[in-house]
Amino acid sequence: MGGSGLDPARVAALKEREDAAFVEMRPRSRELWASGQAVMPNGVPMSWLRTSYDHPPLFIESAGGSRLRDVDGHEYADFNIADMSMFTGYGPAAVVEAVSRQVGLGSQYLLPTEDSIWVAGELARRYGLPLWQFTLAATSANTEVIRIARASTGREKVLFFDGKYHGHFDDVLVEIEDGHLVPEEDGLPHDVTTRTRVVPFNDLEALERVLSARDVAVVITEPALTNNVGPLMPDDGFHEGLREVTRRTGTLLAYDETHTQVVGPGGLTRRWGLASDFVTVGKSIAAGIPLGAYGMTEEVAAVLQRPDGRDDDKPQVAVGGTLFGNPLSMAAARAAMSEVLTDDAYAHSQRLGSRLADGLSQVVAAAGLEWTTHRFWPRSGLSFSPSPPRTAAEAMEDFDVPLRRLLRVHLANRGVWDAIVGAGPTCSVAATDEDVDAYLAAFADLIGELV
Ligand SMILES: Cc1ncc(COP(=O)(O)O)c(C=O)c1O
Repeated sequence: MGGSGLDPARVAALKEREDAAFVEMRPRSRELWASGQAVMPNGVPMSWLRTSYDHPPLFIESAGGSRLRDVDGHEYADFNIADMSMFTGYGPAAVVEAVSRQVGLGSQYLLPTEDSIWVAGELARRYGLPLWQFTLAATSANTEVIRIARASTGREKVLFFDGKYHGHFDDVLVEIEDGHLVPEEDGLPHDVTTRTRVVPFNDLEALERVLSARDVAVVITEPALTNNVGPLMPDDGFHEGLREVTRRTGTLLAYDETHTQVVGPGGLTRRWGLASDFVTVGKSIAAGIPLGAYGMTEEVAAVLQRPDGRDDDKPQVAVGGTLFGNPLSMAAARAAMSEVLTDDAYAHSQRLGSRLADGLSQVVAAAGLEWTTHRFWPRSGLSFSPSPPRTAAEAMEDFDVPLRRLLRVHLANRGVWDAIVGAGPTCSVAATDEDVDAYLAAFADLIGELV
């Protein structure tokens, strides 16, 4: 049996059938991929696009609302929404208009525009932290958070929770293997593990043990872990304990809301009333136009403030980039937050997320499977265990990657684009009841074949 309790041989047989159909149905994608191999490693503009899926890459022609269209003319109800970076849906009119206007006026000045003040103010209102800075991606927002935290505390180490993902910078790409920290991938310095600490999510004792050495600058975590292992929800009291122990040990705390921002304006920070020194956002905040941002308290921002007229050559904190905070991203973020990511839009995506979770539960129960359905506002998904996991190690026990891969390719062949393996399907603000119906019908079809 696989971790899901289903027969691995049956899963493998269906996967073979669906993989063959996937390739057969997409001759133009196949051709483009072959041409791509001559000029790009793995045949794609970012080699990870090949390694993150086990089926061949799909080449896209266009997208609109909640739908993706590939170059072979297939349309998909999109529940991956570019790993949540298109939570606004594709091409919302207000963003198209704002970006078109701004590109004509100049997409980049390396000087601020008024929109940046509006966007920083709106983020401050949503997330409750007063001061904001901008990058082009959440990865670089987290990189800058760490630098500011180091400058502000005089400490070097950073702590993450097992199962995390916060981007592809060195400090975060370490994991626990057989009780030891090791670099997660090739191309990282061997001593990358010396500045990083990793403890299990929901384990306040382990956290306290590490932080009591008082050498960690900042703890970075999502309020609920959404990556790699499906959502891990915090135990009651976890966030209160986290804030208390970070304060007591002089450690800063950063919430990464890059994914969890989809649960409503202000993300889980606002929903759960969380207090921190930093909040990071990115992805859908500017409707897929590149933009990352981080908010901070006045205390930590002090290391960035430069008094007027200062002309000494004291080193500055290493932040900034030529294209960061550019006027195009700012215009897109202003339009997205003022007209697309509204309270009503979040409520709509949550209603559909609940419908999706209800439908998945019904199919699972009718098949007699003891699985857990996630209820994560607009997002759902499955753990193949009777109760939700509390740590990454628990989640991995019955993760069943082959079944998850089969589900992806099976859905793709039926016009549904599922989340990347390890995440769960998310209803964007542009999703419809028909999209949810399509997901549930294709899911029920697969379970019917498997059970
Ligand atoms: C929680 C979280 N933080 C940061 C990132 C990095 O985002 P980006 O790849 O846009 O820099 C991701 C990406 O999946 C994420 O899930």
